[in-house]
Amino acid sequence: MVPDTERALLLQQLKNYLVFLRESGHTHAPLNSELSELPVIATPSGTFHDSSPQPLESQMTPNSPFPESGDNRDLSAGLTDVREELGDCQRCKLCEARQTIVFGSGNPNADLVFVGEGPGADEDAQGLPFVGRAGKKLTEIIEKGMLLDRGKDTYICNIVKCRPPGNRDPEKDEVEACKPFLIKQLKAIRPKVIVALGKPAASTLLGRTVPITKERGTWHEFEGMKLMLTYHPAYLLRAYTKENRQAVYDDMQKVLEVLKA
Ligand code: URA
Repeated sequence: MVPDTERALLLQQLKNYLVFLRESGHTHAPLNSELSELPVIATPSGTFHDSSPQPLESQMTPNSPFPESGDNRDLSAGLTDVREELGDCQRCKLCEARQTIVFGSGNPNADLVFVGEGPGADEDAQGLPFVGRAGKKLTEIIEKGMLLDRGKDTYICNIVKCRPPGNRDPEKDEVEACKPFLIKQLKAIRPKVIVALGKPAASTLLGRTVPITKERGTWHEFEGMKLMLTYHPAYLLRAYTKENRQAVYDDMQKVLEVLKA
């Protein structure tokens, strides 16, 4: 008999692996016979078999309505490598209560990346960012406000990849432990525009405490990429005023102008 604790750990690793496959564009899990032929990926806490001989990027069809930027993105240093390096992360205490690592989702070649704060209960359960109430609001902003396709035109991730218990704010050490992976993610995608959703994302990317009410709607720079600051969709839901909705709409129109330039 496998002890309960070991069983729980194995189940969590299996779940993370299945989410990883789904993020990589797989629609089925490989059979045993297929697994034996596949390369083995070592992770900090065990061994995963990768069913994907193709890099993640090659499985996605870039389908952007925006003109090609003509830049030379290094697709070999792609998101798959960053996800593999993250492994079954135990680098901070958030690993203790999480169900699933929420790495990010969307088009790894997107021109537009949204960065939120951290997974909530729905995201933790599904392994995908922004799938709860705030996620629905974000999808509405993207699809109705910007007339873009969330899955094809954007990539979405968070400053921390594991749910802070009780949806508390991520603590400094947790943000610091996760930040290298956020930076690598953003560098792997190298979008034309990054949008920081809310104060924690803005402050993490800019390395200072950002007064979001004062600075939303302003352009900044992150590692050579344009960075726009706006309100978090959860804040919009809490303070659902015409003024706040208009502010986010205006910020997103500024983003569209740059994307279309
Ligand atoms: N809020 C966030 O900041 N990120 C999510 O993924 C969901 C809600």
